[in-house]
Amino acid sequence: MSKKIITLHVNGKNQEVAVDERESLYETLRNELRLTSIKKGCEVGECGACSVLLNGRCVDSCIYLTVWAVGKDIVTVEGLKDPTNGDITDVQKEFIKQAAVQCGFCTPGFILKAVEIVGRNIPYTRDEIKQLITGNLCRCTGYMNIVTAIEHAIKHNMDKLGIAYEVQPSTTSFDLPDEEKEKMLKDVLAMQDNDVTKN
Ligand code: FES
Ligand code: FES
Repeated sequence: MSKKIITLHVNGKNQEVAVDERESLYETLRNELRLTSIKKGCEVGECGACSVLLNGRCVDSCIYLTVWAVGKDIVTVEGLKDPTNGDITDVQKEFIKQAAVQCGFCTPGFILKAVEIVGRNIPYTRDEIKQLITGNLCRCTGYMNIVTAIEHAIKHNMDKLGIAYEVQPSTTSFDLPDEEKEKMLKDVLAMQDNDVTKN
């Protein structure tokens, strides 16, 4: 089948790509645009490893056709960095601080889901956060640290909005040694700098 030239708006820039109309957004973003933070897990819309933000909402890019994304604002983890100072988001900082990264395969998807959740400006409870992340699976099963990280990121946002929000006491919140934090920071930065493993 012949390819069609389309323009996608990805991480703040227009990108012209030649696509097969049957191609998934996952295939285009990862294979053509080399946005390798996006991971292929189940390929059937069950695990969230391939999540991208489309107009601020997470979609599973493995079951979303590229041609449907024309005219939409697409964001991957590579696009989260502040262009003015290179800073990472509060969500990413909290994933590091709360040790919410193990093998890292699910992490980009969880980070984007957390960015969506925080961006809703709603003071979600821990139980509500658990419900909201049911579309993302972690094979290392580090869920409690992920939930704690999201709660803390919500807290940062609520503080900025002047809304009272208490992070519930957690048994999983702990302070990592500095060298471990530094390693995690490097991993998260590598993810957004497009310098990751070829999973
Ligand atoms: S790879 Fe797309 S949802 Fe699992
Ligand atoms: S950290 Fe390994 S899959 Fe989630």
